[in-house]
Amino acid sequence: MTGFIPNRLEGKVAIVTGGASGFGESTVRLFVKHGVKVLIADVQDDQGLSLCKDLVNNVMYVHCDVTQDSDVRNAVDTAVSTFGKLDIMFNNAGILGNLDFTILDSDIDNFRRVFDVNVFGSFLGAKHAARVMIPAKSGVILFTSSVASVVSGEFPHSYTVSKHAVVGLMKNLCVELGQYGIRVNCISPGSISTPLLTNAMGLEKTAVDDIVCASAVLKGVVPTAEDVAEAAVYLASDGSKYVTGINLVVDGGYSTTNQSYSRVMKQTLETLATKTYLR
Ligand SMILES: NC(=O)c1ccc[n+]([C@@H]2O[C@H](COP(=O)([O-])OP(=O)(O)OC[C@H]3O[C@@H](n4cnc5c(N)ncnc54)[C@H](O)[C@@H]3O)[C@@H](O)[C@H]2O)c1
Repeated sequence: MTGFIPNRLEGKVAIVTGGASGFGESTVRLFVKHGVKVLIADVQDDQGLSLCKDLVNNVMYVHCDVTQDSDVRNAVDTAVSTFGKLDIMFNNAGILGNLDFTILDSDIDNFRRVFDVNVFGSFLGAKHAARVMIPAKSGVILFTSSVASVVSGEFPHSYTVSKHAVVGLMKNLCVELGQYGIRVNCISPGSISTPLLTNAMGLEKTAVDDIVCASAVLKGVVPTAEDVAEAAVYLASDGSKYVTGINLVVDGGYSTTNQSYSRVMKQTLETLATKTYLR
């Protein structure tokens, strides 16, 4: 029998950047269910505050643009002054940026903006979290990277490179912070129908789900933001106490294969069969 194992993180304190929507929101909900006190750090104030209202207890919202050093500093200091400590820093906020897929079409300002949020924002989150975790000699730092860190050619250059950089930051930090008992890991989700993806594709959630499922390796599962939240709970909990420096890919096996050859082969055989039949 599967089911919810409660309080796997009882008494912990977490910050979730980008916690007002998508993976962040799902993680905030699941963390609170597991007994975590959570500070949501985001720029969508109305959504963040309404999530707090919905969850009622053990959650607070702070306006925090992750690209601003003073905002991130304030988020970390507020978590510590309100809840007494910081155990989990989930650097999850991120943007997809423009869908300019070719190097010649790539907009320079967009490239900088994607790096600013996805890479510099993650760096600031880690830096301020480490400031309070090192003296405590414990803590967990998580990042949301992407399947774009392990497959190539499917996302814009800016996004792909930024998510590779996040994995590099995670690995470097894993080595540096291990001496203080601080674990550092990444979660790399495949495409999942959060507002980031539905807005970028200009499609309804169900249409995005259909595309994701049609291209999936693992059939019979519609991936959701909760799948990412479950990975965050695992990596934040003592269940993963000897796990550090990994990029946990949550993509139903999508990145293990490249089906271009078999797809073209199948299409060619179908065409040949039709021609033979017609002859
Ligand atoms: N949805 C996917 O298919 C997918 C796949 C792989 C990785 N990701 C990554 O997952 C993370 C979460 O994305 P999501 O899909 O939940 O999207 P989302 O748009 O639903 O949520 C992202 C949140 O980040 C916040 N944010 C954006 N810029 C910010 C900033 N400067 N400061 C603070 N908060 C900011 C947004 O306000 C939003 O609440 C991102 O890093 C994204 O790159 C998404």
